[in-house]
Amino acid sequence: MAGLWLLLASPAAGEAGTTARTLLTQASYLAASVFFILGLKSLTKADTARRGMQQAAVGMLLAIVGTLIVEQIVEYQWILAGLVIGTVIGYPLGTRVPMTAMPQRIAISHMFGALAASLVGIAEYLHQGARLDGVTMGALGFEVLFGSLTVTGSFMAFGKLQEFLPGRPVTFPGQNAVNISVFAATLGLWIYLIIEPGAAWAFWAMTGLAFLIGISLVLPIGGADMPVVVSLLNSYAGLAASATGFAIGNTVLIIAGALDGASGFILSIIMSKAMNRSFGNVIFGAFGSAPTASAKTAAGLTVKSISAEDAAIQLGYASKVIVVPGYGMAVAQAQHTVRELAELIEKKGGEVKYAIHPVAGRMPGHMNVLLAEANVPYDRMYDMDEINEEFKDADVALVIGANDVVNPAAKTDKGSPIYGMPILNVDQAKSIIVMKRSMNAGFAGIENELFYDAKTSMLFGDAKGSLTKLVAEVKTL
Ligand code: TAP
Repeated sequence: MAGLWLLLASPAAGEAGTTARTLLTQASYLAASVFFILGLKSLTKADTARRGMQQAAVGMLLAIVGTLIVEQIVEYQWILAGLVIGTVIGYPLGTRVPMTAMPQRIAISHMFGALAASLVGIAEYLHQGARLDGVTMGALGFEVLFGSLTVTGSFMAFGKLQEFLPGRPVTFPGQNAVNISVFAATLGLWIYLIIEPGAAWAFWAMTGLAFLIGISLVLPIGGADMPVVVSLLNSYAGLAASATGFAIGNTVLIIAGALDGASGFILSIIMSKAMNRSFGNVIFGAFGSAPTASAKTAAGLTVKSISAEDAAIQLGYASKVIVVPGYGMAVAQAQHTVRELAELIEKKGGEVKYAIHPVAGRMPGHMNVLLAEANVPYDRMYDMDEINEEFKDADVALVIGANDVVNPAAKTDKGSPIYGMPILNVDQAKSIIVMKRSMNAGFAGIENELFYDAKTSMLFGDAKGSLTKLVAEVKTL
């Protein structure tokens, strides 16, 4: 391969070499696109998701190799420097960042991707400027506009999730009107550039305003809604990449960008539904603001705690147990111990199922990934819609570090910030055991009446420690 490359890259290869290089590039782009599509398809099922990531990675490698042999590249030293710097940043991001910090890691990756798209557009404009035709200027302007707003938007989302920026919504009167006006002005500049590509002032004004929009778009949105924002920004970055492909005539960028844009958009819709946010609100950034009425408090209610010994008796003799994992399971890294406990219950004749809420944890699929890593069989994991009817038949609902996704206030309290969010019907189980460390709130920062329910017993402590005790106790039964 390396020999072929050197041969093709050498000036002596002449016209035949150029044709061969173009053919090789196009073939690798085609193969890369096929791998991207296969990767996305595999990602739709938990048992093939790992393969999906590998297929997508092979696709990306092919796209990079195909690009490296294109005719227009005359020297490699800067590309090499980019590869080294990218690897130095990307490798620790991929290997060292814990699963619990994945949403912010994804946000910062989008920022880099969008920055690349923007810079390609800016470089192309600096290179061609007034010589651009209207159509190319349209694609290039779109790329810079959406790329730039994704850069700052993703950085804001990263900051809110990493908590160095305030997680609460930052609002001011007339915010939506201001945001829409700035966006309209930016679109106006983009249209003007299509008519008058040489108007450099309009290009820089559009770029500056786009950076500003990214900030103002995310500012009024609360930290709890960041996953929808991150996924929406992902789709913007995809659109920007696709437009880059049109602007510089690169087919794999058009295809990969379109796939990225469409899948991010669909994921945003799915997540908005799961969090009960209307999609219009997401687009206009009007959500996440304070609820109109005050959420209920738990003043005067009492909590019943349970020992590991008593909880083990309930679990060991139950004929049906539904496990509800949440963010706390991820923090405690308790997934392996959960599986161990489930196997023990099954050995004693009980049935164990896992109920997965679409926004349990901190990213889509968070619980599925952790449970799959612990070798929990895929056919035991059920989506909310599949299992919600079964809670009423469960002897025990075992809630492990989940809070908001089992909060009945979502159904009953109109003043609650999560009112309307579909939840797991844990409150319908015959008995409920909740494992968490304290009475602290979950991500939405609100009280949970489930913990005060007469059927609920709290097993306080770190989830992994408590599960280890449960395993030991169930073994003795
Ligand atoms: P949360 O409501 O965040 O509750 C997690 C609970 O885990 C906390 O109440 C905490 O209580 C407990 N916990 C933390 N560390 C623990 C440990 N080591 N051992 C035992 N318990 C521990 O989680 P959830 O029910 O999974 O809901 C997810 C929330 O995050 C929703 O509000 C959702 O909208 C939001 N969100 C979701 C996503 C996606 S896409 N999944 C992304 C971002 C945000 P203690 O402190 O008392 O232990």
